[in-house]
Amino acid sequence: MAGERTNRAWRLRRRPEGAATVGDLELVEEEIAELAEGQALVKTKLLSLDPTNRIWMSDIRGYMPPVPLDAVMRGLGIGEVVESRRDDMPVGATASGFLGWQEYCLADDSLLEAPLTVLPGPLPGPESAFLGALGHTGVTAYIGIDLAEVAEGDTVVISAACGAVGSIAGQVAKQRGARVVGIAGGPEKCEHAVSVLGYDACVDHRSGDWRAQLDAATPDGIDVDFENVGGPIMDHILGRLNIGARVALCGMIAEYNTYNEGGEHSGGLSNIGQLIMQRATIKGFLVLDFGDRFPEAIEYLGGLLGEGKLHYDETIVDGGIDVAVDTLAELFDGRNMGKLLVRVSD
Ligand SMILES: NC(=O)c1ccc[n+]([C@@H]2O[C@H](COP(=O)([O-])OP(=O)(O)OC[C@H]3O[C@@H](n4cnc5c(N)ncnc54)[C@H](OP(=O)(O)O)[C@@H]3O)[C@@H](O)[C@H]2O)c1
Repeated sequence: MAGERTNRAWRLRRRPEGAATVGDLELVEEEIAELAEGQALVKTKLLSLDPTNRIWMSDIRGYMPPVPLDAVMRGLGIGEVVESRRDDMPVGATASGFLGWQEYCLADDSLLEAPLTVLPGPLPGPESAFLGALGHTGVTAYIGIDLAEVAEGDTVVISAACGAVGSIAGQVAKQRGARVVGIAGGPEKCEHAVSVLGYDACVDHRSGDWRAQLDAATPDGIDVDFENVGGPIMDHILGRLNIGARVALCGMIAEYNTYNEGGEHSGGLSNIGQLIMQRATIKGFLVLDFGDRFPEAIEYLGGLLGEGKLHYDETIVDGGIDVAVDTLAELFDGRNMGKLLVRVSD
């Protein structure tokens, strides 16, 4: 197995200022030691790139500890067990979880931040879906729509409407009988949101008059904000909330590149007081707190998929582990449609 006993891994060398670039992380080659009893070797097939990767690089008060300097970058992925000295991870099994930004993950409970999950085979769909529509991002969408108690007749606004979470959230909200307005970057995404994902309208936040477009698309105000972006977009939405509105605060990607050491960020929301005026509620949530609801969410989303009522998009970037850092940038400039993945190996 010469050659295959070498791992290539991205190690975090310094905390990025602004967007993460090569140099903040270094791609290193490392020998893979012989497996000890209780270890398995998982070969990464697909790496999930998530906005939260950028949060994990910053030394801020987050929901998980920052990735320590010089450690392998944390990341979710899916792979195949290629060697094993563990009964619960046989060779050939598919494993998912925190594989890290690397070609091989040594699955050893003492080394991993969380145990990998061995997926039951054969899978009822493509592996990639288990990092997207039927994985953590799909479940995030399902949970957020549920927490916001989206009901028939509500006007729901969803930012990053064509992204991994937003695209599923929009469709789940439609299933609950809501009128759903997306916000996305560029005419192509807006067209896709309406014609393929089934949004009732979509506002292009890159156009100069996006605020007027959003006002026109929500003539009766906004009952639910599924917030993925933060910043000026969230601020404008807050100014249009109806009495009793709910904000499911899922993410604030517009700020992540400014989470430098010390936790500085881009600034305030001038319409935050509307939460009082409109007796509205805002709830931050993390999908990792809803592990017990993953089966329910996946069953629901898988059911919709089977009935042809759910569409999901993926942007899968080839080029191996080498392209991980450059590909992360796609999330911040909106080059991805749907779930962003890197194909690390076949
Ligand atoms: N709470 C949780 O448990 C949880 C779990 C997963 C994800 N999240 C959050 O959910 C959000 C979406 O994540 P995702 O994985 O589905 O990513 P994604 O939506 O697939 O990709 C990010 C998208 O955000 C948009 N965007 C980036 N910067 C922006 C800016 N400054 N202003 C407006 N739009 C911007 C871009 O779309 P456009 O081209 O449309 O601009 C980009 O495609 C993120 O905030 C993420 O942190 C939260």
